[in-house]
Amino acid sequence: MDLIVAGNWKMNMTLPEGREFLNDLKDYLSGKTIQSQLILGVPFIHLGESQGVKESGIYLAAQNCSQYSSGAYTGEVSAAQVESTGSEYVILGHSERRQYFGDSDHVINQKIREALSNNLRPIFCVGELLQERQNGNQENVVNLQLENGLNGISESEMEKIIIAYEPVWAIGTGETASPEQAEEMHASIRKRLGSLYTEDVAQKTPILYGGSVKPDNAKDIFGQPNVNGGLIGGASLKLDSYTELIRIAEELA
Ligand code: PGA
Repeated sequence: MDLIVAGNWKMNMTLPEGREFLNDLKDYLSGKTIQSQLILGVPFIHLGESQGVKESGIYLAAQNCSQYSSGAYTGEVSAAQVESTGSEYVILGHSERRQYFGDSDHVINQKIREALSNNLRPIFCVGELLQERQNGNQENVVNLQLENGLNGISESEMEKIIIAYEPVWAIGTGETASPEQAEEMHASIRKRLGSLYTEDVAQKTPILYGGSVKPDNAKDIFGQPNVNGGLIGGASLKLDSYTELIRIAEELA
């Protein structure tokens, strides 16, 4: 399957900065045929650019949505509102949401259901803490996050889901999982999807790796058989590193 090069801007980029980045990216892509799927997780304020960048093959994703459909939830943004911008994706269950905003497995499951009912494709993040890996518990932790997050999600809905494995100890720390560690977990996730659903679902679900992916380590990580691309934070904020990651993905295509 084609690789996915997904950025995650987190809480960075003002409206003018985001517009400048997207215009420069459009210029970079112009005249090129790109196999990889390009997705950028942006703060809500940038989602209005979704329609304008799609023709260049850039898809914008929200970084969260509410578990509620509409109503008196001050400060929240619903899946329907995200969808109405022309955005097709939403990052859900990111460890920063789990850690700082209390998104539990149950809430993440509600958000995934809400996103799917509104025709959004969830990029569902899972990953263990450092302590959990040190205890050798990483596969159990990730399996539980998968089971809880995907509770009630049907086999046909799975066609819309992208999984992102992001070990918490590797996010923004400069420390990356080794290609072998990433491959091992991705294979384990695929196996779990096979037992929760079918072998077909397991093979067709894209599984991204995230956590300090940079141009100098991307080739080894993206080159693993069960890694279908990356969810990239820091290195997606600079045009030259993001385009370098696209170039690396294209080389592997
Ligand atoms: P990082 O972030 O690439 O800066 O480690 C990844 C993420 O949190 O999605």
